[in-house]
Amino acid sequence: MNTIGILTSGGDAPGMNAAIRAITRVALAKGIKVMGIQRGYNGLINGEIFEMGRDSVSDIIQRGGTVLKTARSEEFRTPEGREKAANMLRIFGIEGLIVLGGDGSFSGAQLLSNEHGIKTIGIPCTIDNDIAYTDFTIGFDTAINTVVEVINKLRDTSASHERVSIIEVMGRRCGDIALHAGIAGGAECVIIPEMNFEFDSLCRSIIETKVLGKLHYIVVVAEGAGKAQDIAERIEKCTGVQARATVPGHIQRGGMPSAFDRLIATKFGATAVEVLVEGKSQRVIGIKDSKIIDIDMNEALSIKKTVDKDLYHLANNLSI
Ligand code: F6P
Repeated sequence: MNTIGILTSGGDAPGMNAAIRAITRVALAKGIKVMGIQRGYNGLINGEIFEMGRDSVSDIIQRGGTVLKTARSEEFRTPEGREKAANMLRIFGIEGLIVLGGDGSFSGAQLLSNEHGIKTIGIPCTIDNDIAYTDFTIGFDTAINTVVEVINKLRDTSASHERVSIIEVMGRRCGDIALHAGIAGGAECVIIPEMNFEFDSLCRSIIETKVLGKLHYIVVVAEGAGKAQDIAERIEKCTGVQARATVPGHIQRGGMPSAFDRLIATKFGATAVEVLVEGKSQRVIGIKDSKIIDIDMNEALSIKKTVDKDLYHLANNLSI
């Protein structure tokens, strides 16, 4: 392996830069040339490729976002787009490609390998934590810390006005951000797409906790399970208690990566290079029971993410 390429694809996630840094430094130490590909698969198709040195990754470990920039590429979904991408890899002499992104980005890498024989490795980066084969994706820990900070602030104003606060967090199909941040932030109720939810029980709980003298009531809802504004309006109508909606939105994607995200990103990046050097392809890196793993991309993509039901019930049983 003489030359490897790195690209970041899909939604950015805090910690991507730490992974880019680790890949670059570990590869350079092994005498491997590193090419940075800008703007994801779009940039690959357009030849937005440059050689990276040690300095290209200086002072980025603490920065959110991705210095390589990212995109969701429509053209790469077509066989013609992938053919252009494969040509660019050939022109720039890139023998192995490390893709940082979510499962959509991995599917793209898999097609590139199957159709054009390119060696690809995936590193899971998404704040959603919606990739089943790994316990954690890069960016998730930072995102839940951001949401916990939002909950802490909302709790002050919620308690002062004796209101209900509804926070809508990211996660279209996966409620991990809502569930984990809800527990860590001491929310009274967590609503996620994977579990049925009874609105009347929520209203009853709001009324009961108010009678018990509780000043605040925090509801965390994943975007895939409902709109905070709708829930706030329905709560006011049903209980007579004032409710306010907050949507932190893309704030959840930004900011300084947590130490945990930097650590796993560094380990994932280093392992991705090792795996490529061993001659493997179509592998994805992850963490399972605190151990860094690499598994087959096909197998990884076929594993269905499931919610931790015990954690969900715990989250919703802590309100009293
Ligand atoms: O997949 C990451 C994510 O942040 C989701 O939680 C969210 O629904 C989506 O991306 C938003 O995408 P965009 O930044 O393209 O609006």
